[in-house]
Amino acid sequence: MARSGTIDNSQIWHDNDGNAIHAHGGGFLQEGDYYYWFGESRQGSKKVACYRSTDMEHWEFRNHVLSVDSAFQSVYYRTFSEMDPYGTIDKGYGSGSVIERPKVLHNAFTGKYVMWMHWENGRDYLDARCAVATCDTIDGDYDYHGSYNPIGQMSRDCTLFRDDDGTGYFISAARDNADLMIYRLSDDYLSIDEHVKTLWPGQYREAPALFKRGELYFLVTSACTGWYPNQGAYAYASSLTGKWSQLYDLGGPTTYDSQPAFVLTVQGIEHTTYLYVGDRWDPSNYSQSSYVFLPLEFSEDHIMSMDWQDIVTIDTDTGAVGGEYVDSGLYRIYCNGPDQYLAPDARHIAEVEGAVGATKLAYASEDLKWMLVDVGAGKVLIQHAESEGYLQPLGQSDSEGAAIVLAERVGHPSEEWECVTLDQCWCRFLNRHSGLALTISGEKGGKLVQSDRRSTYDTRRGFDSQLFLPAKVY
Ligand code: DGJ
Repeated sequence: MARSGTIDNSQIWHDNDGNAIHAHGGGFLQEGDYYYWFGESRQGSKKVACYRSTDMEHWEFRNHVLSVDSAFQSVYYRTFSEMDPYGTIDKGYGSGSVIERPKVLHNAFTGKYVMWMHWENGRDYLDARCAVATCDTIDGDYDYHGSYNPIGQMSRDCTLFRDDDGTGYFISAARDNADLMIYRLSDDYLSIDEHVKTLWPGQYREAPALFKRGELYFLVTSACTGWYPNQGAYAYASSLTGKWSQLYDLGGPTTYDSQPAFVLTVQGIEHTTYLYVGDRWDPSNYSQSSYVFLPLEFSEDHIMSMDWQDIVTIDTDTGAVGGEYVDSGLYRIYCNGPDQYLAPDARHIAEVEGAVGATKLAYASEDLKWMLVDVGAGKVLIQHAESEGYLQPLGQSDSEGAAIVLAERVGHPSEEWECVTLDQCWCRFLNRHSGLALTISGEKGGKLVQSDRRSTYDTRRGFDSQLFLPAKVY
């Protein structure tokens, strides 16, 4: 049975049948030689999928373990049974409730597999409930026990954790994501026994992933930026209900374009590896979302770090893990003004062939990938990776407002841009011929022009049409 696998973090993942893996916001549970991966599978009425693997590379689809058609079984406290409260499936325009971040624990007392998750009504995120389901087998059809607000609290991003003594905990974002709550579960893991801790009130931490290493608990979280990545962080404590450390950055400014989902412990005969599992949500197309598996490093018992690896190799027998970083040399160029990314504008704004504008983040799109070609003296060429065209004013015009297009290089100074780096990696691009700044004109999706230093956005709100951030393509 294969026990060593190769993980490619830069690709969409497929299961053994060649289908894209849909196990987003997932959680893992090891049973025997298998690692079972539960996650969101928003395929019509299907809600949670289960896959399994022995080597982290080859994933066998096992079952859609939860769907809108799952049998409802009431529990000993009041819950809402609906999985399609607005009847969107019957009316033909939706797929019922939204189920996010499912996690599963095995309960030693009852022998049941217990799933907790984030439940929303399928129309908005205002109900903010948790939901529970159980099954006698790990990958069978789970019985749905309904959704509710734990002790009346909002409950969105969430995770489960089983402590060494078998006690179960449910961690979820409450008070409109402002606080992170730790709840101790009942012995059967079916209900909340007690709210035991509120973490970082008002700091809006979400996407919790809790694990224990030695005597320390670690909690990895993200900030709240919707489907967009942000700087991940971790904290540690010697007791779940005791004092937690401050938050420490983990990974790069976008956590390598991912958001935490789980930390998977691979206990080998020679090593114990802790794998960060992140979601690379595609804000333009959820079904194009992929995953990032990266080994966590510990320089001291309480100091954790994570480096980008395009390729991760792991041996689940020995627990040994390796990695390979291949610098693509490619960037996505974030435009602060429209909160979008530089890309050729297919609409040919103002009938300008090759016009460049800004578009919504889409990891699967090659259009958003650029090279910054150093030509010395602090100057760069901004080259589109796919078309190989260079960013320059139309007709090498040095006039303000000249549309910026992609064109072949002819060696004219207007093809060169001085990259003036400001704080936090922000930069402005000044044209070497005109001295004017690269500027996004208009609202979202506006075209690129040159202009003098004049922000067309309200800088008091932090938007600036001349601020750009080249972000490495991971
Ligand atoms: C961020 C959360 O982590 C995701 O699970 C999802 O709820 C998105 N927000 C929705 O915007």
